[in-house]
Amino acid sequence: MNLDELYIGLISGTSMDAIDCALVSFAEDQPRLIASRIHPLDEDLRTGILALCDGKAVPASEVGRLDARMGSAFAGATCALLEEQGIPAGRIRAIGSHGQTVWHEPDGDPSFSMQLGDPNRIAEATGICTVADFRRRDMAAGGQGAPLAPLLHRACFMPDTGRRGIVNIGGIANLTVLSADEPCMAFDTGPGNLLLDYWTAKHRGEPFDRGGSWAAGGKCSQSLLESMLGDAYFRAPPPKSTGRELFNAAWLERHFVAATLTPADVQASLAELTAATIAEAARRFGPLDDLHVCGGGSHNAFLLERLSANLPGCAIATTRALGMDPDMVEAVCFAWLAKQALESNYLETGCFTGAGHPVVLGGIFPGGKGG
Ligand SMILES: Nc1ncnc2c1ncn2[C@@H]1O[C@H](COP(=O)(O)OP(=O)(O)OP(=O)(O)O)[C@@H](O)[C@H]1O
Ligand SMILES: [Mg+2]
Repeated sequence: MNLDELYIGLISGTSMDAIDCALVSFAEDQPRLIASRIHPLDEDLRTGILALCDGKAVPASEVGRLDARMGSAFAGATCALLEEQGIPAGRIRAIGSHGQTVWHEPDGDPSFSMQLGDPNRIAEATGICTVADFRRRDMAAGGQGAPLAPLLHRACFMPDTGRRGIVNIGGIANLTVLSADEPCMAFDTGPGNLLLDYWTAKHRGEPFDRGGSWAAGGKCSQSLLESMLGDAYFRAPPPKSTGRELFNAAWLERHFVAATLTPADVQASLAELTAATIAEAARRFGPLDDLHVCGGGSHNAFLLERLSANLPGCAIATTRALGMDPDMVEAVCFAWLAKQALESNYLETGCFTGAGHPVVLGGIFPGGKGG
C-alpha cells in the first residue's frame, strides 16, 4: 500500500449523536474505508453546542471554549481510532475535519455557515496535517456551502446506466441524483431524523426510535402531514440547504392542529414527512431506477419501508450494496475532501450548491512540531 495515501475523515452531524471517524485509503482509484470509529460526545459538550444551535444568547467566551473543546474531542476521536488500529499518526497524510455546525444561514445577507472544532487543536494534538472549514469558500463564491457529500457520491457511485439516487438520512436528509447522461443534482430535502429524535426524546426519554418501531405502531395523521408539507422550504427550487435553524421543536409545534393525536401518531407522521419529502424530491428528476440510503436513517426499517411505498418501482438498498458502510459515507467524504484540498483541486460544486465557479474547499493546518 502507498503509505502516503491514508487519510482520516471526521464529522459530527446535525443529530450530534457522535463523532464519526473514518480511516480511508486512496491507494486505489476509489476511496476504501479501512476502519472506523463512532466516538461518543461528552454530554455537557453536546448540551453546550445544542444551546448555540437553538439560537440561545451565548457569550463569546463560551463559544470560544466550545470551539476549543470540540477541537479536542475530534483529536481524541482520531487518536482513539489510530490506537485501536495500531497505526502511527505519521502514516496519515491528512485529516479532513468538517467540525460541528452550530448555525447555517445560506440565504442570509451575508450568508454564513459556522462550524466549531478548532483545527489547530486537532493538528497539534495528533501531529497530523488537518484540513477544515470546507463550507465557507463555496459560500463566498455564491453557493449554499451545502450539501457537499454529493461530491463524493458523484465520484464514487455514478451508475453506468439509468438514474440513481443516493440519500443521506442524517439529522437533515440530502438527496443526490446521478446519471451518466444528465447533469447531477443534489439538495437538502428537509428533516431526516432530527424531528423524529426530538419527539422520541421528549416522549420516551430515548435518543432515537430504534428501527422506527414506535412510528410503525402509530398512524400517520394526514392533516398534520399536509400542514407540515405546506412549508415553503419543500416547494423552493434548488439549490437549497437547511438545518436546525428551520426544522426544530418550535417548527413542529406550529403545525399541531388536532389535539387528539397520540405521540405515536405524531411519530408516524414525522416518519412519513421524511419519506414523502425525499420521494417528492426524487420525482422532480424523473423516475429513479434505484435509491441507496446512507446515514443513521439507513437503520430505520420503518423509514425504508415508507420510502419504498412512496417510490413504487424504485429499488431501495443501502450504500453497502455499492461497497460503502452507510454510517461512514459522510466521514469518508471529508477524508476525500482533505485530499482534494492538498492537491488544490478545483471542485465543481455549482450544480449542488449554486456556487458561481469551481472552488478549492478547505483551509490547511500543517501537522508536525517545530523546534
Ligand atoms: N437503529 C436505528 N434506528 C433508527 N434510527 C437510527 C438508528 N441508528 C441511528 N439512527 C438515527 O440516525 C441518527 C444519526 O445519523 P447520522 O449520524 O447519519 O446523522 P448526523 O449526525 O445528523 O449526520 P449528518 O448531519 O452529517 O448527515 C440518530 O440520531 C438516529 O436518529
Ligand atoms: Mg452523526
